[in-house]
Amino acid sequence: MINSKSIREASDVIKNGGLVAFPTETVYGLGANALDPIAVAKIFAVKERPSFDPLIVHIADIADIKRLTKSEDPRVYALAQKFWPGPLTIVLPKSDIVPDIVTSGLPTVGIRMPNNNIALELIKLSGCPISAPSANKFGRISPTRAEHVKKQLPEVDCVLDGGPASVGIESTVITLDSMGFIILREGFITASDLLKVLPASLSTEAEHAPASPGLLKSHYSPLKPIYIEGRSNNLPDISRAGYLSFNGQFPNGFKKVDFLSKSSDLKDAAVNLFGALHRMEDDSDIDFIVSQPVPEEGIGRAIMDRLTKAAYQYSEKPDKHKKI
Ligand code: TXA
Ligand code: MG
Repeated sequence: MINSKSIREASDVIKNGGLVAFPTETVYGLGANALDPIAVAKIFAVKERPSFDPLIVHIADIADIKRLTKSEDPRVYALAQKFWPGPLTIVLPKSDIVPDIVTSGLPTVGIRMPNNNIALELIKLSGCPISAPSANKFGRISPTRAEHVKKQLPEVDCVLDGGPASVGIESTVITLDSMGFIILREGFITASDLLKVLPASLSTEAEHAPASPGLLKSHYSPLKPIYIEGRSNNLPDISRAGYLSFNGQFPNGFKKVDFLSKSSDLKDAAVNLFGALHRMEDDSDIDFIVSQPVPEEGIGRAIMDRLTKAAYQYSEKPDKHKKI
């Protein structure tokens, strides 16, 4: 069990330039002192993450925005007031103290305050902002439990076990321009949530979005093929396949059925998504996975973003002009 002693010991690891895996409300993070480039380099090495994919910096005090960024944009404080601590990452012009390795050489840095007491305590006791990607090997399924971290990153000694993540999918990543906000990665906080704080200010992605280098077409992938129901024409024999249901129903003939939700509830699906994929990945009776799609509305957009990227290598590509 986590207690203040284990968080203090973990903060010593951070202070000494080491890595700590810790819970957040979205997914578990693999953290290092964000101001120590050598410590941050260890994150990239352990994750086998390409150097072009920037890290999010986690803070416990809103005042750190001033230290880490050059932004005095009042909209940032309005967003922070409403959504922090919580699953919103805001990409802003970085200050000079943020090492280039954190931002992959970009002039901007993504900042968020996680809504998890263990994470906040760890950041406070470490005395520094903590840069952390999701604590999985690059491109693989994100961890929503400490066991998921231990499975993929056994070399990380210090893992703070805070139980299952309450949100289950990564933060929404946004940036701001003169017109409004731009969503760089869909997440739990939706465009309509953001519009309540910044009314009529959704900027058009095509015209304004700067590149978000981490947004690859293939990501979040289990070690087994995954297909989205209705998007692939020729499924292999399903007698050794697992089925992920969103509405509680499932076809006959699958080896195993797991549930994103039993009642078409998108919040349930967000919480259950990565855990269900991990269970399917770990089950030696299962050769491949078929998931029901979820409606692409509200947080369903973020869920389908993750599922589509997980299935990318196995979907029939639009450029082949096939039905998907
Ligand atoms: O919920 C989360 O965001 C979790 C927890 C641990 O906080 N973290 C997470 O980190 O999902 P990661 O590294 O798996 O994804 C961060 C993504 C990057 O891949 C990139 O697309 C975007 O955030 N990002 C970070 N900094 C950026 C920047 N300066 N400009 C554009 N995109 C950025
Ligand atoms: Mg990730």
